[in-house]
Amino acid sequence: MDKIIIKGRRRLRGTVAASGAKNSALPILAATLLAGGKCVIKNIPQLSDIATMLKILKLLGMKVAFKNNSVTVEPFDDKPHETPYKLVSTMRASICVLGPLLAKRGLARVSLPGGCVIGPRPIDLHIKGLKSLGARITLDKGYVVAKKKRLKGSHIYLGGSFGSSVLATANTMMAATLADGKTVIENAACEPEVVDLARFLVKMGARIEGIGSPRVEIEGVKRLKGAEHTIICDRIESVTYLAAGIITKGDVTVKGAQIGHMTAVADKFKEAGAVIKKVDGGVRAYCDRDLKPIDVTTLPYPGFPTDLQAQMMALMGVARGICVITEKIYPERFMHVSELARMGAQIILERPSAIVKGVRRLIGAPVMASDLRASASLVLAGLVAEGETEITRVYHLDRGYEMMDKKLSELGADIRRVRE
Ligand code: EPU
Repeated sequence: MDKIIIKGRRRLRGTVAASGAKNSALPILAATLLAGGKCVIKNIPQLSDIATMLKILKLLGMKVAFKNNSVTVEPFDDKPHETPYKLVSTMRASICVLGPLLAKRGLARVSLPGGCVIGPRPIDLHIKGLKSLGARITLDKGYVVAKKKRLKGSHIYLGGSFGSSVLATANTMMAATLADGKTVIENAACEPEVVDLARFLVKMGARIEGIGSPRVEIEGVKRLKGAEHTIICDRIESVTYLAAGIITKGDVTVKGAQIGHMTAVADKFKEAGAVIKKVDGGVRAYCDRDLKPIDVTTLPYPGFPTDLQAQMMALMGVARGICVITEKIYPERFMHVSELARMGAQIILERPSAIVKGVRRLIGAPVMASDLRASASLVLAGLVAEGETEITRVYHLDRGYEMMDKKLSELGADIRRVRE
């Protein structure tokens, strides 16, 4: 298992390139199951979650080749229909093969994801969406089994206690592309990754209206063809590097980042006293003063993303005063709090909120990564902390950040990866 060692208090300056968005790439790769021919997907990041999805596609009878951030997927054998627990348990996003498998092959058997370190991850909305399209769904020995030869379009409200769902929208939308007649999804997730998926489906021949809005209409077609697509840049990764610039009082530009995908974050960064702006081909952020404390609440897009809550907490950990960070998507997503506290952060948990009292300085310490975004917050804290921070269980970072240590070194961080 690798670990990352950071010597903090160096200002990060320069330009890094954003990678392709993991959360776009995963459902888009799943969508290739719908195609009758070859798909070429470009700008795929090299991440362990992507490797897991490619394994799943192979198990499901697809021919897969991955070279230079480009994946070619071709149907080969359309009989397999099962995604085993071994793979789903390492990556919950595996559930997004359920809709396409069912729609294309009439049968899908996908392991239930089970528990997760960021809290409960139910799939009731995925099931609701597919049932509305006429699927018969049963549970069998920890697997969700969905059956229906030909799905039928319907009018679906897809909201739960925590609002819209990204992957339930993706699953229902993918399944509806091959259903008979029209489907309307109300309260569809509007995240840029859902938009990217819809655009890919349209390239495959799907008929979708209202892309990017909470009301999406899909007119089913008989078949979808192979298509070529380039994945959008990763807004979560991009903001993480911009935050690295801000927390170290440096100046970072992320090439490929789109300011339009990060309006809520830009607003909060500005409120905290940083400068963030669109530049030619990317986004630049810098800060030359102590951060002001600001309250943040995570919400579905275009609200402040839950996937940046932990990183924002690292920033607020060194702000001049007290603020409240409230988690409205995953009320238990606070695994980073106790590790940040090991570095001297002063945070009181009052779930689903954290009260953060900024400190003058964080002190490097051995800390343990617990999930993907929690790990990113420890890296940010390590960059600003005095002395050395050693982060173990780096495999969490490798699920969602392509070559993070290399990109941060390019910006001037003293960071190294040690193989144990
Ligand atoms: N929810 C339900 N029922 C469902 C599905 C979701 O109640 O059937 C709830 C969830 O428990 C949560 C809320 O709805 O409270 C939103 O969850 P959502 O379904 O949108 O999450 P997801 O689609 O499973 C994606 C990202 C996550 C990101 C969330 C929220 C992918 C592969 N994953 O998950 O990314 O946090 O949307 O934006 O797209 C990450 O990258 O670190 C990550 C966890």
